Amino acid sequence: MKKVRVSNGDSSWFSHDRFGLFIHWGLYALAARHEWVKQREEIPDEVYDIYFRHFNPDLYDPDLWAKTAAAAGMKYFVVTTKHHEGFCLWDSQYTDYKATRTPAGRDLLKPMVEAFRRQGLRVGFYHSLIDWHHPDFVIDDLHPLRNHPDRARLNKTRRQEKYAEYLHHQVRELLTNFGPVDIMWFDFSYPPGKHGRPSSWVGKGRQDWESEKLVKLVRSLQPKILLNDRLDWPEDWDIMTPEQYMPRDWPTVDGVPVVWEACHTFSGSWGYHRDEASWKSVEQLLTLLIEAVSKGGNFLLNVGPTARGEFDERALARLEGIGQWMRRHSRAIYGCTQAPDEFKPPPDCRLTYNPETNCLYVHILAWPFRHLHLDGYGKKVAYAQLLHDASEVKIIRDQKKPDDITLELPVLRPNVAVAVVELFLR
Ligand code: GLC
Repeated sequence: MKKVRVSNGDSSWFSHDRFGLFIHWGLYALAARHEWVKQREEIPDEVYDIYFRHFNPDLYDPDLWAKTAAAAGMKYFVVTTKHHEGFCLWDSQYTDYKATRTPAGRDLLKPMVEAFRRQGLRVGFYHSLIDWHHPDFVIDDLHPLRNHPDRARLNKTRRQEKYAEYLHHQVRELLTNFGPVDIMWFDFSYPPGKHGRPSSWVGKGRQDWESEKLVKLVRSLQPKILLNDRLDWPEDWDIMTPEQYMPRDWPTVDGVPVVWEACHTFSGSWGYHRDEASWKSVEQLLTLLIEAVSKGGNFLLNVGPTARGEFDERALARLEGIGQWMRRHSRAIYGCTQAPDEFKPPPDCRLTYNPETNCLYVHILAWPFRHLHLDGYGKKVAYAQLLHDASEVKIIRDQKKPDDITLELPVLRPNVAVAVVELFLR
């Protein structure tokens, strides 16, 4: 088994469970055209305020959300307590820019946490480091007011350290008032001179968030918590979080594989987007999950609920399809990781491996005609079956080439999103 970089939080459950739900929910759900709408369209507070005054999620049913996630096979969830727009889903004592002061009139986070816990899911908080509403957050090159003619004057009264204090206060609240929190997911740092940005670029990083102090606070309040890697504080994090792409190989730091999680959207934006048409299919989404696990990682799949408080029908259809597959195939996901190096995946296949049960899973992305050649597997495989119905897959052995075997598959591709062969190893 691969030796993985040690994390400070408890990552054993995380690396077992593999599959989580990301939820992006905030005022941008009303605009319904990307969670960065305030930034993209350079909308000033007075104008953006219209969403605050109309936020009324009358159909919000956290139990239904939690049941939907559980039925899809998800084992944890990560919700935006606050996104870059600055709006808070919980009843924070440090701001009035929160759900309780909108027509919603109540804390939306607490019942969500409780509902997901009831369904057996672990709890994660996404919290935006960026805040486009707070009056002390210094206007930088990402801010909605970045092109404001009076930017310099507006910045004169802004005190970033006061914002940092607010940030720390709110994190303390989140990690004190909601019971055990399993994941803290901060987003994000953009220091000048990094990630291809010029050094003249005005961004933000560890000094602006006081990251070192913030990490200490998090660790002291919730010692087991898993912390992601976006605080611009390389000394201490647990989870690497590649976003909207699939790493080629298991990501490493100094050559050592890390605990990691790929996060992806259904369609492109994270917040509810009414008009986006680029929705991935169930098969594509499952392929992302399988591929992440085949490289020792997790998959965090995002839903952007509507401003009425529902998962829209496109999201529901996909979650339902994923759930159907997971019901029969979760054995190839939970507790699984990258296959030992001695097994090379055949063309158009991905491998996952459960070290406890010593089973290897061949996920067949393109169905071949009858024969799947497994070179080098010959002496290692005791029995093979299709996972969805436990029907035997014949193993063809050739005495002249004892190291290689061929699986004899049915001509018809099984009617599942991705067919999987379960190999019981010797
Ligand atoms: C980003 C975006 C964002 C999203 C997030 C998820 O960095 O700013 O809108 O919340 O990544 O990973």
